[in-house]
Amino acid sequence: MGDRKTLRIGVLGGAGRVGVALRRELCNRVHTIRVLDLIKPPELSANETFRQTDMLDPHDLSAAFEGLDGIVHLAGIPKEAPLQEILAVNVTGTTNVYEAARRTGVGRVVLGSSNHVVGCYPRSAQVGPMDQMRPDGLYGLSKCWGELTAGLYWDKHGIRSLIIRIGNSSVRPMLPRSLEVWISPKDLCQLTMIGLLHEDVTATTVFGVSRGGGSWWDNSLAARMGYDPKDVISDHAAPEAFLPDEEGPVSRHFQGGRYVAADHDGVIRDR
Ligand SMILES: NC(=O)c1ccc[n+]([C@@H]2O[C@H](COP(=O)([O-])OP(=O)(O)OC[C@H]3O[C@@H](n4cnc5c(N)ncnc54)[C@H](O)[C@@H]3O)[C@@H](O)[C@H]2O)c1
Repeated sequence: MGDRKTLRIGVLGGAGRVGVALRRELCNRVHTIRVLDLIKPPELSANETFRQTDMLDPHDLSAAFEGLDGIVHLAGIPKEAPLQEILAVNVTGTTNVYEAARRTGVGRVVLGSSNHVVGCYPRSAQVGPMDQMRPDGLYGLSKCWGELTAGLYWDKHGIRSLIIRIGNSSVRPMLPRSLEVWISPKDLCQLTMIGLLHEDVTATTVFGVSRGGGSWWDNSLAARMGYDPKDVISDHAAPEAFLPDEEGPVSRHFQGGRYVAADHDGVIRDR
């Protein structure tokens, strides 16, 4: 792995919402970015190129990764979806990503995971990276698969991953819950650079949240690796975010909010 001035990285899913916002920050911190996606993003910076890539095609993916130092993996379905779609895209896709990294000698992955890996913890709990996963749906389960895959490829092949459990990465915090979980593009970029460069990264899990949120999570590991979020969530929030939370009792009780409430039987259980 080189230093930041020589880093050649791929951003898979770089045409998506998180990818577009993150790249605006990231492009100033690395040598070049290869944007890999099914669709072309609206804009590219001077040091960015686009390569149409389907992560469900293993050969295409390997060709796309050739010559890169690291991959930021943001591609896939970012919400609840039917099982067959989640399996086909998120589960198979992320497995393909790690296999292509192994085949092409890419030694680093920054994995866009989600807070929905632990969404079934109550908001009264503080969850750390080593605590048991408690996903809140099929989407969250697919992210558990991704995180475990990162561990497998470290254990067997030495591929380093920073697993970022992204909270919410909307343009601005719009809901009461987002005051707790939002992350700005600048802070996500800071975490991404830690993932690409920090020597202590193995298969390391952190929570992606800006300043003033994250009370549900123990993010001390991220702090030890130098994460120092700069953006204060409430400074960026829309007025609606400060209104009373009108979600139902299940949604308000659990960290995953609406994702937990979907298909829930209404009985609040703790373990
Ligand atoms: N947006 C959030 O608030 C949020 C929160 C937590 C986690 N995440 C995670 O961050 C990542 C990005 O989320 P997003 O909101 O930008 O989603 P998005 O849907 O806007 O972007 C996903 C991108 O992946 C691409 N993609 C889908 N299938 C592909 C394939 N087969 N090959 C190549 N590219 C493919 C899409 O074209 C799209 O550009 C996802 O992994 C999501 O689960 C997002």
